Amino acid sequence: MGRILNKPHYYDGRIYERIIDPYFAKVRDRISEIIPSRSKVLDVACGTGALCFRLAAKGCEVIGVELSLKMVEQARLRQEQGKIENLQFIHGDATRLEEFSDKAFDIAIISFGLHEMAQDEGRKVLLEMKRVAKRLIIVDYAVPQPRRLAGITCRFKEIVAGWDHFSRFKEFYRLGGLNFLLKEAEIKILDRERIKKKTIEIIQAR
Ligand SMILES: C[S@@+](CC[C@H](N)C(=O)[O-])C[C@H]1O[C@@H](n2cnc3c(N)ncnc32)[C@H](O)[C@@H]1O
Repeated sequence: MGRILNKPHYYDGRIYERIIDPYFAKVRDRISEIIPSRSKVLDVACGTGALCFRLAAKGCEVIGVELSLKMVEQARLRQEQGKIENLQFIHGDATRLEEFSDKAFDIAIISFGLHEMAQDEGRKVLLEMKRVAKRLIIVDYAVPQPRRLAGITCRFKEIVAGWDHFSRFKEFYRLGGLNFLLKEAEIKILDRERIKKKTIEIIQAR
């Protein structure tokens, strides 16, 4: 998978699992509904693996790729405790997925990864996902955000995540969010829906 780097944040690992994972539980319910059981799935920028565990529980064969070592360690700890076999976590950079052949997966997912990547990094990740999977599920903050409390809460969460993180979120937002990135990577949108008071968008694509 090329260079092994690290992308640490103060909240990676246990803090993310305790505070952020529960906040996104409903989003993962919906993603899990969309994915047929027994699919072969790549979860890009998988964090603590919360979605991977759900998909593995419904019989999918899952690989999670993640750049932050603390996130991967937390995911592997939970996997060992649960003795789950149809799941693997790889510490690596999703801009270079060269160990996977073309269309090796039924589905590649990225959830809440693109808004924290620089534009060029996000484009490379999407191009790699398009290469290795037959279908894509791309999930992130909707742009524009609703002006109501729900939209303000999302922005507040991004500020708390730290200045670097917030700067990249602002850049993602300024460019036009997923619409811009998907167009740039020539990804064809098949279906889209907004959930959690229209703050989050789930896109199915190829
Ligand atoms: C906000 S978290 C989302 C985690 C998880 N997908 C979720 O839905 O909760 C974004 C994750 O993207 C990871 N990440 C950022 N750039 C990456 C890259 N180039 N390759 C793999 N993971 C990356 C970060 O380390 C972080 O864990």
